[in-house]
Amino acid sequence: MVIFQDYKLYKFLGLITFLLFVSCSEENKSPVSTISESRTTEEIYTQACAFCHDRGMAGAPIYANTFSWGQRVDKGIDTLTYNVKYGLNAMPAMGLCADCTDEELRAVVQYMLDSLD
Ligand code: HEC
Repeated sequence: MVIFQDYKLYKFLGLITFLLFVSCSEENKSPVSTISESRTTEEIYTQACAFCHDRGMAGAPIYANTFSWGQRVDKGIDTLTYNVKYGLNAMPAMGLCADCTDEELRAVVQYMLDSLD
């Protein structure tokens, strides 16, 4: 079971790498990138986290699903943000937001916590 999940994950991570590559090349076409100033926390979540966290991909805690978060909430915002920044098991470092600032990551984690009961 675990091996099967990992196998799916590797395929999935390959896809993510490809998507990141494509989206990065598109971004670079614009000489001035204003993305980091203009995006909202919700947009970051939708673009960089929702793919896994809307459906619990590879055991990811699910948005607005308190049960799926279990004891994680008790770690506190600092530890949770740290784990997002540096990655945790199946979750890649920074989620899918390679250019997110620490403040943005923290805001997205808070956004996810706010969705819980
Ligand atoms: C490729 C899928 C994937 C993406 C994209 C992703 N996550 Fe995760 N996330 C996971 C998985 C899987 C876990 C559970 C990791 C574990 O505990 O083994 C997780 C765990 C977490 C946790 C709990 C960490 C802890 O210490 O328990 C937080 C908070 C989190 N993710 C936030 C985010 C944020 C914010 C983003 C977007 C910037 C994001 N994730 C993007 C898969 C993903």
